[in-house]
Amino acid sequence: MIKYVLEESGEDMRIDEHPILTFAKDKKIRFTFNGKEMFGYLGDTIAAALVDNGIMEFSKSVIHERPRGFYCAIGNCGSCNMTVNGVENVKTCLTLLEENMVVENELSEVIIND
Ligand code: FES
Repeated sequence: MIKYVLEESGEDMRIDEHPILTFAKDKKIRFTFNGKEMFGYLGDTIAAALVDNGIMEFSKSVIHERPRGFYCAIGNCGSCNMTVNGVENVKTCLTLLEENMVVENELSEVIIND
């Protein structure tokens, strides 16, 4: 698993200031990713919270098993599909984070629903 941490600068991956958008950090939300405790904020998508926690590898390509990251962010590509609270193939770029969610990536197998 690829994990990016900006340890030298101490910065996280979140945009705090933007010329036209505002990002509220009203409520901190706990969730787990592959069993590890992480935190995001109310209003985050799962994918945004994962990137903010330094997770960049969301899935692997089917044939060559190359790492796939957060790609289209609009629900079209499937690169962000993960198992969330036991439900497979959830598009984490579209799904809002909820308290105590259990998020797992699907790196070890390809799951195709009928
Ligand atoms: S990043 Fe493409 S569907 Fe989520």
